[in-house]
Parts: sequence; C-alpha cells; structure tokens
Amino acid sequence: MTAKTVPVDPFDLVIFGGTGDLALRKLLPGLLRRYAEGQIPESSRILGVARDAQNDDSYRARVGEALQRVADADPALADKLPEFLQRLGYQSLDATRDDGWDAFAARLHEQGERIRVFYLSTSPALFVDICNRLRDHGLNGDGARVVVEKPIGRDLASATAINDAVGRDFSEDQIFRIDHYLGKETVQNLLALRFANILFEPLWSARHIDHVQITVAETVGLEKRASYYDTSGAMRDMVQNHLLQLLCMVAMEPPATLDANAVRDEKLKVLRSLKPIGRDEIAQATVRGQYRAGASDGAAVPGYLDELGRDDSRTETFVALKAEVDNWRWAGVPFYLRTGKRLPDRVSEIVIDFRHVPHSIFGEAGGGIRSNRLVLRLQPDEGVKLWIMIKDPGPGGLRLQHVPLDMSFAEAFGVHQPEAYERLLMDVVRGNQTLFMRRDEVEAAWKWVDPILDAWKELDDAPKTYTAGSWGPSAAVALIERDGRTWHEDSA
Ligand code: BG6
Repeated sequence: MTAKTVPVDPFDLVIFGGTGDLALRKLLPGLLRRYAEGQIPESSRILGVARDAQNDDSYRARVGEALQRVADADPALADKLPEFLQRLGYQSLDATRDDGWDAFAARLHEQGERIRVFYLSTSPALFVDICNRLRDHGLNGDGARVVVEKPIGRDLASATAINDAVGRDFSEDQIFRIDHYLGKETVQNLLALRFANILFEPLWSARHIDHVQITVAETVGLEKRASYYDTSGAMRDMVQNHLLQLLCMVAMEPPATLDANAVRDEKLKVLRSLKPIGRDEIAQATVRGQYRAGASDGAAVPGYLDELGRDDSRTETFVALKAEVDNWRWAGVPFYLRTGKRLPDRVSEIVIDFRHVPHSIFGEAGGGIRSNRLVLRLQPDEGVKLWIMIKDPGPGGLRLQHVPLDMSFAEAFGVHQPEAYERLLMDVVRGNQTLFMRRDEVEAAWKWVDPILDAWKELDDAPKTYTAGSWGPSAAVALIERDGRTWHEDSA
C-alpha cells in the first residue's frame, strides 16, 4: 500500500543552524524524503544559514555527505539526492551583526511573495536577534512562519520573555513551537483511536481506567551535547515538553474539531488541571537519577560524569514522577511518567491500564484475571496492542490467558512510517498548527514544572545514580510499587 502524498505550495525554507546536528540528522533527511515522494514542488528552495564562511557548493557537498547515509539505505532516495541538493543554498550570517543580512533578504525577495519558513535551530539566546532582523528586512509578512525548537526557555520567566520577544515580530498564528513527539505517527493515531472509534470513549475515565504510564526510554547518553544537556537535564529536555504533551493527548476532552485552536484549548485545560506537586510530596512523587558506568547495546559505556569530564554535575539524566490530573474525568487516576538516557532499550510507549473486573466467575482454577491494557507503541515498531483475557485453547478445564491483540503499523500497512519532522515540516508550510504548541500551553507546562525544579534545587540532593543499561534508580520502581502497581513490561 502506498501513502497518498498531496504536494504543498512552493516555499522557501531557511534553516538557521543549517550546519547543526538537527539540520543534518533530522530536518534535511526529512525534506529529502518529502522531495523524493513528490511533495515538495521543484521551485522550492532550502537555505542553510550559519556563521561559517561557505558557499552554496560547499554546503551542498557537506549536506550530500550527511545524506548519503540515508540514501544508501533507500534506492528511491539515492536517485533523488542529486536533484534535491540543487534545491539547497547557503548564506553565511551572524544573528548579532548586520553583515550579510541585506544580501540574504534580497535573495529571498527574488521570488516575490511566497511561503517563507524560518526554522530557528539555534540557541534560544539568538531567537530575538534573528526575529528582529527578519522583521527589519521585511521578511515577517503574511506568508512568513517561524519555527522554534523546544525547550522554549528554562523556566516560566525565560519562556515568557522568549514568547514576548518573538511575538513582537511575528503573530501567534505565524509561530510554530515544535515538539516533534506530536509528529510521531502513533501520537496522531491516539487521536484516531480515541475520536474515530466509539469503543474507547465510554471507558476513558477514572471509572474504568486504573492508571496511565508514559515511558520514553533512550539507550543513548550525552551524544556530544554536553553544553546544552548539562544545563538542561531530563526534566527540561523531555518531561516539560514531550511527556506532558503525550499526557495531554491521553487526558484531553474530545475537541469539537481538529482545528488547531480547538485541540490546543483542550490540551491547555489538561495542563492547567495538573495537580501541583508540593514540597512535601516531592520525595514520594518524583525521582531524579544520573547514570554511572555500565553497558549499553552490549558495549561498556562510561558514566555521565565521565562523559561530561566533570565530577560535580547534579544534572538528572532520568526522571520518574507521578502526576495527577485534577478534574472530573481523571480524579484519582495516577499518570506515571518516566524518561531517561542509557536505559536498556529505546522504547516509547503509553500504557492505559484498565480496572479489574468487579467479580470473577472463574474461581481459583481459572487463574488470576489480569487487567486489560492498551499499549500504544511510539517507537520502535509503531503499533497498538490491546491485552485481553482469553480462554487457554484446548480441552480440559477453563483456564485463562492474558494475550495481546497486536497491530504493528509497519506490518499492517507496509509503508514507510514517516519521521516526525517530515510531517511537521509540511504542516508548517501548509500553515497547520494543530500539532504545534501554543504559547499558553508552553507557559502552563512550565508553571507546573517550575515548583518541582525549585524543590529539587532547594533540597540540594544529588540525583540517585543508576547503572547505564538498567531501568533507572530503584526508587523509580518503588515510586510505582508503593501504589501496588508495576511498570509495564511487554510480556505483561
Ligand atoms: C529531543 C531531546 O527533543 O528528543 C533529546 O532533546 C532526545 O535529548 C530526543 O534524545 C529523543 O527523540 P526521539 O525522537 O529520538 O525519541
């Protein structure tokens, strides 16, 4: 089966940070794929911007080298790579100096008015300079959109300052705050599952759901991102954005339409309903960890401090916490969140654990009745599993078994599962903000996260260490087991 591709209008896309990791590893490969699928019109242009002195040809060569790895894995991409590189150009610019900006603006104005996307894949410290200069050069007109990467700020105050500053040059409907988790297929499938089926909605509340688990586990460590990561940590890097956005998609009320504001209004209500975790609850409701040396993918790996080359960092590389959504639908249902680096597997999933049946008719011989579980697997092997009880096949007594109804999207549809950035970049060009965060959402998320960060700082506890390749500190297991529950394992 092939996916249907609807071409977008011609556009110019400018990537500030065009030689950076995100551009080379995610954005440009995603654009190559969309180009190869015929979604990007020929007259579109992609301009890399960075400080180094380079020209179009040397940039194309550099990007070509980075994309070769992607193309090697897929002949359809390899065929299109040379043409795609011809769509690329380069502009050397320093966001804090005037040099080069006139030439840059003239280059963009060459094409007259058209969709212009400015992707700020830079340090947030440069956002204001870049936006001001875009405005000064008349590049913030109606067809302009600016994309900002997470995390937006490092707390509510800095996020507000960034939002204010960007908001002076671009209107809210031109600002695309990207959270690439919203572009993952399974996250959109959660919308389909919840709102295109009658089956789940009557069960989707505290009446029938015991608890929810959201896990985003990675096997990678610092990945040469020390200067960013060590000032951020897992709470700011993952929980404030990706995990809370996933929580919103699970917990939100049905929006009236898929319109961007209808969806975001509902997510905002969830964020505003999160029960604050007070200072007294911090030790019971949160765990922060940092990995020490261990093994990852079968190889020995150093601990976080060794990777960092310092021994005094208290940055957390792991967080587990128990959140609660204080509203009618979810009263009393814990949402257990956990994320970490150097965990045993790369796996992201949402687990909805339903309540037990009120009474068993099967008696001792049947074996225990386990609860139904709906598991949405974001990666790898995107898909949905619904764990149900069935009769153990065969003659003899009636015994029960817990088995999954298993749907792997790759097996069911046989199509390439698009990377989140592919989908989201095309949404920006189309001007569709449904899968992007609105200003008030980002700020509401910080409002909930800030007191936790403050409490951690005040307690001045070192994070609990865990061996690389394990599932985090034992306190994370205790956090959920204290409530008589366990973290989901795929065989459960
Ligand atoms: C990014 C974080 O937003 O998400 C990284 O900054 C993390 O630290 C990455 O590794 C994970 O994304 P994915 O799509 O690989 O799960």
